[in-house]
Amino acid sequence: MLSQKTIDIIKSTVPVLEVHGTTITTVFYKNLFAAHPELLNIFNHANQKKGRQQNALANTVLAAAKNIDQLETILPVVKQIAQKHRSLAVKPEHYPIVGEYLLAAIKEVLQEAATDEILQAWGEAYGVIAAVFTGIEKEMYDQASKQNGGWADFKSFTVVQKVQESEVITSFYLKPANGEKIPSFLPGQYVTVRIEIPGERYLFNRQYSLSDVAGKEYFRISVKKERQGSSPDGAVSNYLHDSIQVGDSLDLTAPAGDFTIDLEKTAPVVFLGGGIGITPFISMVHAVADQTPKRHVQFIHASDNGKVQPFRRELTDLAQKLTNYQISFVYKNPDEEDKQLENFVKEGYIDKELLSLHVMHDADYYICGPVPFMKAIITSLKELGVDADNIHYEFFGPAMAI
Ligand SMILES: Cc1cc2nc3c(=O)[nH]c(=O)nc-3n(C[C@H](O)[C@H](O)[C@H](O)COP(=O)(O)OP(=O)(O)OC[C@H]3O[C@@H](n4cnc5c(N)ncnc54)[C@H](O)[C@@H]3O)c2cc1C
Ligand code: HEM
Repeated sequence: MLSQKTIDIIKSTVPVLEVHGTTITTVFYKNLFAAHPELLNIFNHANQKKGRQQNALANTVLAAAKNIDQLETILPVVKQIAQKHRSLAVKPEHYPIVGEYLLAAIKEVLQEAATDEILQAWGEAYGVIAAVFTGIEKEMYDQASKQNGGWADFKSFTVVQKVQESEVITSFYLKPANGEKIPSFLPGQYVTVRIEIPGERYLFNRQYSLSDVAGKEYFRISVKKERQGSSPDGAVSNYLHDSIQVGDSLDLTAPAGDFTIDLEKTAPVVFLGGGIGITPFISMVHAVADQTPKRHVQFIHASDNGKVQPFRRELTDLAQKLTNYQISFVYKNPDEEDKQLENFVKEGYIDKELLSLHVMHDADYYICGPVPFMKAIITSLKELGVDADNIHYEFFGPAMAI
């Protein structure tokens, strides 16, 4: 328990942290990695370079500071982060290291404004916050390892099949190298893939949504080859596409994540995917088709064009199982052939006008795609009167405010 005095100090420092939060976490990461380069085997280097991870950590520390006397109010956020931590094999012994460098960064940035009293209070508060995380993560590790076919950290899988789904997306079918069964998982969950890239000093970890339903003998992940003009090519996705072949091994953690669908529900459901953001929905729509085939399902997928779009056949085939099912494909740059494709409905974007045709009373909306895509859709849905509780979304990168 923190004393009232400590709580008061923490709360009074929040405005200062709001000004310096990102600077503090930037200094924190620089010093942390200088002293503990082995942690670069866990963190995503591209996220670090783009600054997204710094903001995520800063925002969470601030949210925790604001709620230090009622941490239960941020538990849903903690649980979501803990899913990511568990999927990356973050362990209790990492927390004191992070705490030490976080406090040192507060001192370095705030200088004399960070008095001993303030640092003492933050040290105590960090201990309380870390205990909440490690407690929740312990439960998650226990759950992951105790389930049938489960395990706690990384496990070796063999690529048993590689299927090109479009010009830029390839699926990898993965089976445990030791021949064991795979555990069940919830549609929408992801795994972390850890790989060693020849010539690179540190390991790479990336999350990939499971793009098929549970109950198969394999996991399927579907990866987009990331190439963006002047930026460096995506390290892991290009390596997977170009160098990982059938018979090769990949290390995986057990499925994680809370972006899942309630399969008990019968209310209509609308899936809104942008580009590779379609993958969790492939798993979800298969699960709905298996369990509640009469449920009203609208599947809307936006792509640049028909050549890069994956899973068209798999999605249209589901009409044989789902009795109340509509599919709509929206292409930003369709050619004449794309415009003739079955279920092509619009050139351009998923906009408010298109969404207004799909807004249904009590429907649940699931959104995944690039951040601007999600922002535009969430804004439009809210303007169309959809309740925020019925809007669910997932980031394919560090979570941020929308
Ligand atoms: C929960 C979750 C689920 C996901 N599911 C999927 C999925 O099903 N399928 C899928 O394909 N992806 C998925 N992702 C994304 C995936 O984890 C990777 O982020 C993605 O494959 C890119 O990784 P990479 O190593 O190829 O690219 P990175 O090397 O991480 O680079 C990412 C992007 O940044 C650019 N970049 C790299 N370095 C720099 C730099 N220095 N400056 C500026 N830009 C730079 C690259 O061009 C690239 O576009 C998911 C992510 C999350 C969090
Ligand atoms: C109380 C302390 C901590 C807080 C508040 C915190 C907060 C966060 C947040 C907000 C994210 C982003 C989650 C998402 O986008 O889904 C994240 C991700 C992550 N965290 Fe933590 N974290 C803490 C401790 C740790 C520790 C001790 C480690 C291990 C050394 C760690 C390693 C990571 C990694 C590797 C990621 C994935 C991000 C990436 O690689 O880019 N975190 N954390």
